[in-house]
Amino acid sequence: MQDLRAVVAAAAVVMVAVSSLSQAHNITRILEKHPELSTFNHYLTLTHLAPEINGKTTITVCAVDNGAMSDLLAKHPSIYTIKNILSLHVLLDYFGAKKLHQITNGTALAATMYQATGTAPGSAGFVNITDLRGGKVGFGAENNDGTLSSTFVKSVEEIPYNISVIQISKVLPSASAEAPAPAPTQQNLTNIMSKHGCKVFADSLSSSPDALNTFNDNLDGGLTVFCPLDDAFKAFLPKFKNLTASAKVALLEFHAVPVYQSIATLKSNNGLQNTLATDGANKFDFTVQNDGEQVTLKTRLTTAKITDTLIDEQPLAIFAINKVLLPKELFKGQPHPPSPAPQPAAADSPSPAKKKPKKKSTAADAPADDSDAPADSPDNAADVTADDTNSAARRYGSLLVAAFALGFIFGLPLML
Ligand SMILES: *[C@@H]1O[C@H](CO)[C@@H](O)[C@H](O)[C@H]1NC(C)=O
Ligand SMILES: *[C@@H]1O[C@H](CO)[C@@H](O)[C@H](O)[C@H]1NC(C)=O
Ligand SMILES: *[C@@H]1O[C@H](CO)[C@@H](O)[C@H](O)[C@H]1NC(C)=O
Ligand SMILES: *[C@@H]1O[C@H](CO)[C@@H](O)[C@H](O)[C@H]1NC(C)=O
Ligand SMILES: *[C@@H]1O[C@H](CO)[C@@H](O)[C@H](O)[C@H]1NC(C)=O
Ligand SMILES: *[C@@H]1O[C@H](CO)[C@@H](O)[C@H](O)[C@H]1NC(C)=O
Repeated sequence: MQDLRAVVAAAAVVMVAVSSLSQAHNITRILEKHPELSTFNHYLTLTHLAPEINGKTTITVCAVDNGAMSDLLAKHPSIYTIKNILSLHVLLDYFGAKKLHQITNGTALAATMYQATGTAPGSAGFVNITDLRGGKVGFGAENNDGTLSSTFVKSVEEIPYNISVIQISKVLPSASAEAPAPAPTQQNLTNIMSKHGCKVFADSLSSSPDALNTFNDNLDGGLTVFCPLDDAFKAFLPKFKNLTASAKVALLEFHAVPVYQSIATLKSNNGLQNTLATDGANKFDFTVQNDGEQVTLKTRLTTAKITDTLIDEQPLAIFAINKVLLPKELFKGQPHPPSPAPQPAAADSPSPAKKKPKKKSTAADAPADDSDAPADSPDNAADVTADDTNSAARRYGSLLVAAFALGFIFGLPLML
């Protein structure tokens, strides 16, 4: 019984640790304590801005009360327009009440999440904050003819210097944020990529109608694209041009996943991802892994980092990555990186290489095998089968562990 209690206590500690690790703050929870801000809070959730806010630090959320929100909603903007407007209310800097009243030289410009979406023209994504006579603080969109029509009302919650939540008197008027925003399914994928540093990849996609159609066909259901930056894809072009037509399509399709995943989801959902190139036995998958705030994508041959968000609006997300993802299905014989030697040569490989036995694994030895990065190339079908058996067994193993843990937790009151 002592042992059981210890197990349950340990499980509880692990759960608490995991949940507190995942997030520094929760904007939904902060605003929940303030019923007068409930509409604003509700729309942060509907527009999926809440998880984006939770994933950022050193920010200021300028909330407005339910009356101000109903003025905005009376114009019946689309949810995408509301998202643009609300993202203009998230400043990418920390402004507590004290700092707001003591701005150097009395005026400052703050970049916002609207600016960070890349859809704000010119300086439309900046907010002008100015100290006014009588202790007031004025707020206005920078491109709004210098009109500061909204003022500071109160501090809602300050967690220095992670997040400051303040209330301002009105929604910030902004012609560009209020303009009808296209639904992501009407977005021109290659256009977004070209405009934000991934033109070479976009051009390759445009010249491959098969791949481009696959991308577009997935827009409605949800799509996440990882596009290599121009320097990376340019360097890869000689190799790309060398591929067969179908391998080119597969390489391009390998850079997208048929589900929408925000950066917050990627951070909390590590593991194997199937891609648009996945087709039965041709796995074409990669592993998502995060190290703190940094999300990486790993194949056996590449470790790429997400460097930028080009768009993140359900059902479409496009992220820039710093390397071309090389699927092992196309590049197993590549000299770079060094093919695994019998010695533990993979010192620079971030994931531990393992020697995979040629024989099929059994469920019994699977749980001990926690590596997702097989070191030797799956040159033949037998290897691929062994891989499948292995991972299925791993999954089965962890299910059993989970079932036991749940059994302990829920069975305990009966036993005590
Ligand atoms: C601020 O954010 C950091 C990083 O996410 C976190 O470790 C820290 O606990 C947060 N501080 C507070 C006071 O919540
Ligand atoms: C944030 O808080 C809300 C309301 O309490 C909760 O529903 C949501 O799951 C929390 N989000 C995270 C990521 O913990
Ligand atoms: C404040 O104004 C002075 C003089 O105009 C200028 O040199 C300085 O850069 C300004 N500081 C900020 C933070 O804008
Ligand atoms: C903010 O707007 C005010 C009023 O139009 C203007 O005087 C001030 O220069 C602006 N501040 C900045 C930093 O642009
Ligand atoms: C998408 O934009 C590109 C230019 O970047 C253009 O050539 C193409 O015709 C556009 N596609 C659609 C479907 O509008
Ligand atoms: C292209 O393919 C040929 C034949 O397989 C090979 O010899 C050559 O090295 C390849 N070029 C590049 C740039 O990969």
